[in-house]
Amino acid sequence: MTTDIEDYYLPETFARIKAEADKHETPFLVVDTQTVGQCYDELTEAFPVAKVYYAVKANPAPQLISLLKDKGSNFDIASIYELDRVLGEGVSPDRLSYGNTIKKSKDIRYFYEKGVRLFATDSEADLRNIAKAAPGSKIYVRLLTEGTHTADWPLSRKFGCSNDMALDLIILARDLGLEPYGISFHVGSQQRDIGAWDSTIAKVKSLFDRLSDEDNIKLKMINMGGGFPGNYVMRTHDLKTYAEEITRFLEEDFGDDMPEIILEPGRSMVANAGILVSEVVLTSRKSRTSLHRWIYVDVGKFSGLIETMDEALKYPLYTEKNGEVEEVIIAGPTCDSADIMYEDYKYELPLNLAIGDRLYWFTTGAYTTSYSAIEFNGFPPLKAYYI
Ligand SMILES: Cc1ncc(COP(=O)(O)O)c(C=O)c1O
Repeated sequence: MTTDIEDYYLPETFARIKAEADKHETPFLVVDTQTVGQCYDELTEAFPVAKVYYAVKANPAPQLISLLKDKGSNFDIASIYELDRVLGEGVSPDRLSYGNTIKKSKDIRYFYEKGVRLFATDSEADLRNIAKAAPGSKIYVRLLTEGTHTADWPLSRKFGCSNDMALDLIILARDLGLEPYGISFHVGSQQRDIGAWDSTIAKVKSLFDRLSDEDNIKLKMINMGGGFPGNYVMRTHDLKTYAEEITRFLEEDFGDDMPEIILEPGRSMVANAGILVSEVVLTSRKSRTSLHRWIYVDVGKFSGLIETMDEALKYPLYTEKNGEVEEVIIAGPTCDSADIMYEDYKYELPLNLAIGDRLYWFTTGAYTTSYSAIEFNGFPPLKAYYI
């Protein structure tokens, strides 16, 4: 079975994207900005209590930053380069958070000088750097999370700290003259188990209580990160169900004493808006009797599809060819044998799919352009058109 357009796009949305796609030579990404606007509206309607900080890393296109700025979004920033980009689009620094826990002292100072006053941390050394380079700023401490095996793109281990360490850091933040403001976590990107938020919110609640009861520190904010879904082959609950369940978890733990809630969606804001358009470069069989055909296309792991690493994300694939299908192996155009997108998970594509045919990669608006290499094997970075 190949992909049905209707499972992923409204007919008019697909028609809009296709009309743009027909004008260009592959490979490229088309992003439908109207869909991004709808994703923002859907999220803010589903989570009326939450403030949205768009995770710029998911797709840093100026067109999207400007659109989300006009809609009232705030922004989660990972580097001084993203900061310059977002400030350049006219976003004021009070709408920004420096969400990266790994940062140089001079970069902290740069954010501070530009007016940013909200910083994430998960280590003592970073906290001490913030206290020196960004005195008096608001601090939130990132927790390690569980349940990352149910996320398609986990963010485990590298970020966050244990509850004990978070407690120490919050107290130290106060002692260093910073404002201990809240707790953050990220349950892993494309998190398919909504229960992952439940256990983490409970951990956050115990920290809030302990700090209030024993240290007289009243935290004000929970940053619940990203993890909300895009529409890939492995289906998830819809966003409304995520919102209802997560709101219920929050109400169960915090009741009427609800802190400020921040969300940092990246993927769920832009993934569904994008279609990456590629062309079949070559097809082959490795032996006369081979059961599988190799399909080589003009995009790959190094031109935007790095999230196919370990076949983590399974993009819905669409072709205009139809008829009898067969299992295929799908690989990119570079001279690197890591550049195979799908080999274990067998996509089925039409037998008559041939050199020169287009293959459309649905749900590719997030983490594609920004991940693309700049000249691996001489190939230019992934082009993108924003409509
Ligand atoms: C700190 C932070 N916030 C938010 C996000 C966005 O997560 P997602 O794309 O799952 O929405 C990320 C992703 O890496 C992140 O590192």
